[in-house]
Amino acid sequence: MQPMIAHPAEALAGIVKVPGDKSISHRALLLAASAIGETPIHGLLESEDVLATAAALRALGVEIVRDDDGWRVSGRGVGGLSEADRVLDLGNSGTGVRLLMGLVASQPILTLFCGDASLSRRPMMRVIEPLGRMGAQVWARGGGRLPLCVRGSTEPLPIDYELPVASAQVKSAILLAGLCAPGWTTVTEPLPTRDHSERLLRHFGATVHAEPLPGGGRRITLEGQPELAASPVLVPGDISSAAFPMTAALLVPGSNVILSNVGMNPHRVGLLQTLQEMGARITAIGSREEGGEPVCDLGIEAGPLRGVDVPESRVPSMIDEFPILAVAAACASGTTTMRGLKELRVKESDRLAAIVEGLEACGISVRAGEDWLEIDGAGGPPPGGGVVRTCFDHRIAMSFLILGLAARQPVRIDDGAAIATSFPSFPIVMTELGAKIHGSNELSGD
Ligand code: S3P
Repeated sequence: MQPMIAHPAEALAGIVKVPGDKSISHRALLLAASAIGETPIHGLLESEDVLATAAALRALGVEIVRDDDGWRVSGRGVGGLSEADRVLDLGNSGTGVRLLMGLVASQPILTLFCGDASLSRRPMMRVIEPLGRMGAQVWARGGGRLPLCVRGSTEPLPIDYELPVASAQVKSAILLAGLCAPGWTTVTEPLPTRDHSERLLRHFGATVHAEPLPGGGRRITLEGQPELAASPVLVPGDISSAAFPMTAALLVPGSNVILSNVGMNPHRVGLLQTLQEMGARITAIGSREEGGEPVCDLGIEAGPLRGVDVPESRVPSMIDEFPILAVAAACASGTTTMRGLKELRVKESDRLAAIVEGLEACGISVRAGEDWLEIDGAGGPPPGGGVVRTCFDHRIAMSFLILGLAARQPVRIDDGAAIATSFPSFPIVMTELGAKIHGSNELSGD
């Protein structure tokens, strides 16, 4: 356990570069491993989750090196993985394990997967089911949990699959399995989710079509058995990590911060839209395209926020940002309502429960149901002063440390260790901006 504390802050200022995008980093490694030739990757996120994916790929026979120039992956071509001689431990990473399950499901190898306590509680049936239809055999613990074993199909079938939940991980697992299947693999999503897999597949030479559907969903088709060719990847900054310094800068009076090189994938910008509706002063500077993804710098100025109703259709585009939005809502004037949050119950923790518990520990009025949340904002600094249980969830940990910067009293978290899964430099970045966030030996008293 690594207890941490965040103290009420003076105005934050400075320019910081947020680390590489986690979703894109996983996918860059997986697709570079499936291409022929050597792919250089710049800006790869060097966090525990991504390093676990790199280690798993190495165990599957892929040569991956990191030197002064960045990362280089020597791809084995589509279907070229070898059987690993050990269990692949994906640590805390749902993206890592689900995408890798897809990649191995259509190759004639047997792969064993395990993860940490949090990952071992998360549902894998959502990927086991479609991968089974493609011909893979999967043996999992009760309820479709890790540890599990995948025997990839020798003759994978392309499928036409309708996602029961809007999940980019499940969509990507099916598309990755579809790489080895003949013909067209099709996935229909009820609402659009992040399309990094589709963009990177095209970048490496695959044929992928995405067609919008009348109800707001999308139908994605991939032509199987392509020849993927190595091609350099530039990973933009992670908007889900940028969300923490961004919200801190909005909430701490007098702050003026620039976040450089932030990925602006249209299916990831839900928090930005919501904060702007709340009255946030956020300016996009120098919008450009880098490595097939839209990117810009963000200028952020502190100012009062007001509560809003977040439309349910926006949930997939800010699925990881509800903990930090809850913190912004706690400081806004009026009530913020969020609906359609069922998926939050099966993230790195039961995030809905963790948000409620943390807000209550910090003196904030909150109501919740099975899939909704209503937060009464303090219209300025909320009380704070609590000790928050993070349940080994990086986003809960960082969100409540940000609350400590904006509250009247410091906020403590019981364990900040999970921050290293996605944003290891978080304490350094926040300190550069003038925040006081550090380890704390005590869970009560100053
Ligand atoms: C991710 C998709 C989302 C998100 C996760 C990363 C991805 O999960 O919560 O942090 O990289 O595809 P779901 O696909 O389960 O919604």
